Amino acid sequence: ACEAFSTAVKLYPRYADAFYERGLCRMQLQQEKCILDFNKVLAILPNHFQAYLSRAAFFGSKGRYSKAIMNCTEAIKIHPRSVRAHLYRGALKIHNKTYKNAIEDLNKTIELDNICTLAYYNRGVCYHQMKDYKNALKDYSITLLLEPKKDIVLKVLVNRAVIYTELDQYANSLEDLTEATLSKPKDSQLFQALGICYHRLQKYEEAVKSFSTVLRLNPFSLDGYIGRGNSYMEYGHQAGSKQAQKDFLKAIHLNPLCIKARLCLGYNLQGLGKFQKAWQQFSVAIHIDPECHIAYDGRAVVCLQMGDTFAAFQDINTALKVTTSAEILTNRGVINQFMGYVSCAMKDYQQAITVDPDYALAYFNAANVYFLNRQFSQAKDYYSRALTLDAKNESAFLNRAITNTLLKNFEEAKADFEKAVCLSPFSAAVYYNKANLHNTLKQYEQAEEDISKALAIQPYDPLMYKLRADVRGKLGFIKEAIADYKKAINIQEFIFTG
Ligand SMILES: *[C@@H]1O[C@H](CO)[C@@H](O)[C@H](O)[C@H]1NC(C)=O
Ligand SMILES: *[C@@H]1O[C@H](CO)[C@@H](O)[C@H](O)[C@H]1NC(C)=O
Ligand SMILES: *[C@@H]1O[C@H](CO)[C@@H](O)[C@H](O)[C@H]1NC(C)=O
Ligand SMILES: *[C@@H]1O[C@H](CO)[C@@H](O)[C@H](O)[C@H]1NC(C)=O
Repeated sequence: ACEAFSTAVKLYPRYADAFYERGLCRMQLQQEKCILDFNKVLAILPNHFQAYLSRAAFFGSKGRYSKAIMNCTEAIKIHPRSVRAHLYRGALKIHNKTYKNAIEDLNKTIELDNICTLAYYNRGVCYHQMKDYKNALKDYSITLLLEPKKDIVLKVLVNRAVIYTELDQYANSLEDLTEATLSKPKDSQLFQALGICYHRLQKYEEAVKSFSTVLRLNPFSLDGYIGRGNSYMEYGHQAGSKQAQKDFLKAIHLNPLCIKARLCLGYNLQGLGKFQKAWQQFSVAIHIDPECHIAYDGRAVVCLQMGDTFAAFQDINTALKVTTSAEILTNRGVINQFMGYVSCAMKDYQQAITVDPDYALAYFNAANVYFLNRQFSQAKDYYSRALTLDAKNESAFLNRAITNTLLKNFEEAKADFEKAVCLSPFSAAVYYNKANLHNTLKQYEQAEEDISKALAIQPYDPLMYKLRADVRGKLGFIKEAIADYKKAINIQEFIFTG
């Protein structure tokens, strides 16, 4: 075809359409001189709309977006109502990362053709890039309603899932990803994302299944092993932890320099009480990346568990030199508290709160320090703040209940105990302290019921038998009270001699 058009322009050197067609042929043949043909067309016919668009396409394909955009603008001057030219300029501006300008073009495209699928899709991409998730979701959803081609449907589903994940709406994300996997059942990355969603939704068995699919599709996927290991960890039993360990080890086997796998294995071993081995993993991670603050933080806690407070303190300080985070500051607070430096601990907790006012553990630990200092109203205040951020924490309810008891806020204390019982119906500590409250309030029957529950859960506690004996005495059950005192003494002696 090229040769034929060449013959034509030789015969008639001002034959613009022949130059244009030869340019198109040369573009298909990936010959750069196609641009000379388009230039020639425009020299002959300065209003040749297609030639400007083709020049734009050529420069667009070369990544020279400014030139491409300018040529598109020339085309639009010739045909100001061309859907194609506006759509194309919008797309070029997306590549050029000037999203706001791209939206103007895409708005114009939609104004000219309000069922132009690509315009909605591209505008969705712009909003997405600008993190305007509300409008992005709207445009992506319109795109799907317009029943686009299969490849666009897939792109929209994946992009929308990414946004839902960003917004912590994992159930929605899950739905889009599931649909996407139906048309791409061999895409391991889709299953990886799906696994993460299941994990976030606390559906750990499904998460394991997804990650297993990832690994079937790609047996060398480190993220697949790590994701599955982390899901096994959530099973909450030893067998799960062992299963997790195998996955982390496999990832390390595939790539011994994979820090993420080393950290996961470190936490796994720590959870299994193998502190020395956990210490090794964190140390290797530090060796690979001396700036890895997570590894220093993890090793510090392991050191603390092994009783090496000084090493723990050094590691946590190194972590804090690399980065300042509420979590690390709070961990240093714990270490400081262990070393008996209570006021330093408090400073760490307060600084953690300054860094991240939503970090519940810092409030909880600060509250415990206030409690130990007998500053009960401050303690109560901090437990309350922890509970605002983490409304399902039975430890915080229990501690606030005890604090309220000491502050003589008996009704509030009762309400806190009720919440703690609801959240943790098998905690002896909750029933024991609740019994104490009712004993103080001379509500002996309730006290007896609670302390009996505590003893049913934790039967060998002399303090609890003593409390029940006291309560039973007040109720006039003298024989039962004496039996409890005797049990308390027996257990006490057993503890001292045994
Ligand atoms: C985008 O295009 C404009 C002109 O339209 C230009 O000034 C700008 O430098 C380009 N940006 C990038 C990132 O290429
Ligand atoms: C269009 O493309 C040509 C190259 O063929 C370039 O020289 C020119 O600057 C571009 N812009 C306009 C407005 O024509
Ligand atoms: C594009 O159109 C939308 C909806 O019609 C409007 O909200 C937005 O302000 C417009 N943006 C620009 C840059 O013109
Ligand atoms: C409750 O909070 C304490 C301190 O914040 C934490 O150690 C514990 O793991 C939490 N428990 C639950 C069930 O979230």
